[in-house]
Amino acid sequence: MASNLNLKNKMESGLSKEILDTLKLCRDTAFESEYKIFLIGGVVRDLFLGREIVDVDVTVEGDAIRFCHILADKKLCKIVRVQNDLKTAKAVFPNNIEIDFASTRQEFYPRRGHLPVVVRIGCTLEEDVYRRDFTINSLALSLNEGSFGDVIDYVGGVDDLNNKLLKVLHDNSFNEDPSRIIRGLKFAARLDFHRDEHTRELQKVYIEKNLHDDISWSRIKSELKQTFSMNIARTYDMFLVNDTYKLVYGEKPDIKGLEIKNLIDNYSPEYPWLVYLGTVMKNQKIIEAFCFTRPEKKIFTDRDYLLNNNLSLINSNYDIYKFFDKRSVESILIYYLLTKRKEPLIYLEKLSKIRVELSGEELKNLGIEEGKKIGTLLDEILKKKLAGIIVTKADEQRFVRSQIK
Ligand code: CTP
Repeated sequence: MASNLNLKNKMESGLSKEILDTLKLCRDTAFESEYKIFLIGGVVRDLFLGREIVDVDVTVEGDAIRFCHILADKKLCKIVRVQNDLKTAKAVFPNNIEIDFASTRQEFYPRRGHLPVVVRIGCTLEEDVYRRDFTINSLALSLNEGSFGDVIDYVGGVDDLNNKLLKVLHDNSFNEDPSRIIRGLKFAARLDFHRDEHTRELQKVYIEKNLHDDISWSRIKSELKQTFSMNIARTYDMFLVNDTYKLVYGEKPDIKGLEIKNLIDNYSPEYPWLVYLGTVMKNQKIIEAFCFTRPEKKIFTDRDYLLNNNLSLINSNYDIYKFFDKRSVESILIYYLLTKRKEPLIYLEKLSKIRVELSGEELKNLGIEEGKKIGTLLDEILKKKLAGIIVTKADEQRFVRSQIK
């Protein structure tokens, strides 16, 4: 129902002039053509909280494609994409603003934990709201003549925003979509919110009872990626304390989020989220189910190689170098976090930066025959550089000449 709140001022400060002008254009057309249009979900939440808004999606009560055609017929925009099954459309306006228009819809989960199917398109706004995850993500904002900026709150989302609470809309929420458990973690960390007691209880029950469910791992993966890519230390601590790690059949390590964050800040790995996850996720079936890309998967295979091969025989810098050489930075960091050995950091800090400066071509010019000998000699130089016996390029050349003699 309409609350007494109006976010027009926040819209003026939180949205660019171009976006706001475009929304007003939509408002006028909606009025003339008797459509009702709204902002809904994350954008309303973020406007309310004064967070940065980059792009906005508009929800149309009814058929969004038809509404877009009305805009296009008036030469106000060009339709650049249409998806007929969901009745969504993307339009670009003359000021280059792109807006995605979605039709209100009701969803149904035929299999627990799998993607929902749409049961009705063009339902009322209220019916659309009830398919959503948390009350704070279920607020709508009117873009209509006479009520522009009014907040519509069917589920108590405004109170929960004020109280910094994450509350699911109904008791079946996590059963329908367990990725909401990770979304809860994401919003808790990003917004500094807390799950209300009942939501925590529902999460606990889901995690305890539904461990062996076959669920949509791609959704879980996507949410975990967003969550840990934020690189917020306490996200990881919450992940362990709340037993959320059990959702991916994880093993609980004795590691603090801050340790991981510091390493990530220091070594800037390409996949920071996998450093967090790689300390926990061991189950090969789930790793397979995540359908990682090739470089992502390498992090897990490198990690397992490092953990399964014995470092105890290692006693020289050269051994350390060979052990970690060509392994991804992420896997080396995970190995360090899990074993607390000093060698991974010695490698990353010092040894990985040591390179043989002479090229194969230069060795040939110095009189070394082509073939296996070159490889052996380069390795010999590396060994001496790692031991600190050879330092400069001139040292390398001297060593090569001594070998020729
Ligand atoms: N939503 C949901 N359940 C999900 C994913 C999304 O109910 N598993 C709903 C929420 O109402 C959410 C909206 O769809 O606000 C849009 O989803 P998304 O873009 O993923 O979330 P945002 O809330 O916009 O969050 P973010 O700021 O991370 O993009």
